[in-house]
Amino acid sequence: MNQTTLLPQLETYKLIPVIKIDHVDDALPLSDALAAGGLPVAEITFRTEAAVEAIRKVTSARPEMLIGAGTIVNVEQAKRAVDAGASFLVSPGMNRAVIEFSIENNVPVFPGACTPTEIMTAMEYDLNIVKFFPAKQYGGLSTIKALSAPFPSIRFMPTGGISETNLTEFLAFSGVIACGGSFMAPGKLINEKNFAEIQALTAKAVSIIHS
Ligand code: 3PG
Repeated sequence: MNQTTLLPQLETYKLIPVIKIDHVDDALPLSDALAAGGLPVAEITFRTEAAVEAIRKVTSARPEMLIGAGTIVNVEQAKRAVDAGASFLVSPGMNRAVIEFSIENNVPVFPGACTPTEIMTAMEYDLNIVKFFPAKQYGGLSTIKALSAPFPSIRFMPTGGISETNLTEFLAFSGVIACGGSFMAPGKLINEKNFAEIQALTAKAVSIIHS
């Protein structure tokens, strides 16, 4: 499997919930809330100890969902994520070892790239979808548009500062394949086990995407 295998799903969902989960027990109700809200997809980040088991739990109980691992910064994490069942890997930056591991193991990888040099590194591996993180601080949509001029084959997944208010603007640009964000499932709501609100925020985001 490579990036292009996931292209239709990314183009359909247009928004990837970025999840930071502290308690494994929250993984299933959280996934169910996202799916019920219209996004049966999540990037579960390696920012917490619970990430690996959360990925394992959701991928085995909800095989119909598209579950990837985020914040992958080294090969050891990449291996643990894939072993737990992650269908794709997302990295905040450009790490050749992570990319090479992903290619060798046929797992789609979305490395972070905010500069021409990083984009050109991704292109060495025939990757044409990169994460653009942190999107807001790196100049947002105007930077993505400027980067798209010399790199028209690259599609961006902006993450970091995406919200209900700017989602439409990012998605309107053809160089953006999908956005990533935590706004529909913020850590506070997960820890409060307010899955009803997460479902409602997800449904609202989906309605904005399709409006
Ligand atoms: C990420 O890990 O991709 C981002 O931290 C998510 O950013 P957000 O919380 O601003 O959506």
